[in-house]
Amino acid sequence: MLSCVYPLFVRILTKRILSVFGESSPYISRKNTMKIITLINEKGGVGKTTIAVHVAAGLAIRGYKVIIADADPQGHATLCLGLKKEPGLYDLLVRSAPFRDVLRAVPPERYAPPGHPIKGQLYVVPSNVETRSIPIQISDAFAVADRFKELEGVVDVVIFDTSPTPSLLHGSIYLATDAILYPTKCEFLSFDGLVESFNHRQMIQPTRERYGLSELKVMGIIPTMFRTSTLVHQENLNKLRAKYGNLVWPEMYMRTVWAEASTVGRLVFSFAPDSSASRDMWTIVDRVEMELAL
Ligand SMILES: Nc1ncnc2c1ncn2[C@@H]1O[C@H](COP(=O)(O)OP(=O)(O)OP(=O)(O)O)[C@@H](O)[C@H]1O
Ligand SMILES: [Mg+2]
Repeated sequence: MLSCVYPLFVRILTKRILSVFGESSPYISRKNTMKIITLINEKGGVGKTTIAVHVAAGLAIRGYKVIIADADPQGHATLCLGLKKEPGLYDLLVRSAPFRDVLRAVPPERYAPPGHPIKGQLYVVPSNVETRSIPIQISDAFAVADRFKELEGVVDVVIFDTSPTPSLLHGSIYLATDAILYPTKCEFLSFDGLVESFNHRQMIQPTRERYGLSELKVMGIIPTMFRTSTLVHQENLNKLRAKYGNLVWPEMYMRTVWAEASTVGRLVFSFAPDSSASRDMWTIVDRVEMELAL
């Protein structure tokens, strides 16, 4: 009986989600398998948000249907994309709001090179300070996984940007995530944040196993704000490579254009498409695309 009803249920659910994207734009994912990536480092200011929004935008430029889920009460991913802070994630997880009410479309001119044809779509689940109280309002550890499962077959990639302070929300995101990207500066305190984040990933593995989930994958570690002329950066990068080997991706260099672009609510791909910062980021997007086998 259940097997007869289930396809009908999926069709109704898909129809409801399609209505988010409007009649004129049938919204079907390219591969029917959605991937969830999370950016984490329990140290602030290491480039999590910058990488999260640019990878999301880069994949949308490449033709994928992407959602950036802002899970930081600071709402910086929301702001970086020129949107206003709102309790989108809170409404989704606590008030059971439908996706169509919380998703915000990002106009391509904010993230894509001028005149570049955009094949994909980029949406944001925005955040504001209310995100901080999500963990005390929800008791179900699978709340994040269950809600985002609704997008299966509709969206290609969901990218979570997280806050530097660990919380139970991180735990729920860990249970929904396929792979983690860890940005880190090549500095002592950022390495401490990295180690703490790795420990928390390890702590969630038994729960994932118990519920039949695969191992939570480390997609990569991205050295950020790297200065070749700074000896300690070079030494620390060598230490990072010695410890984590191939998991360490090419370094992203310290460039002022990152701050300039965010000041005007645009991404570097749109603000300075020919800059070396933009080229650094395309290398990261290429690697994510390859790792996800999209
Ligand atoms: N490669 C880079 N070179 C120079 N500045 C950078 C680089 N990457 C990011 N920035 C800048 O560094 C600041 C912090 O970056 P970002 O907000 O992405 O870090 P975060 O890890 O998300 O911080 P938080 O933990 O507070 O959420 C921002 O002003 C951003 O523009
Ligand atoms: Mg951030």
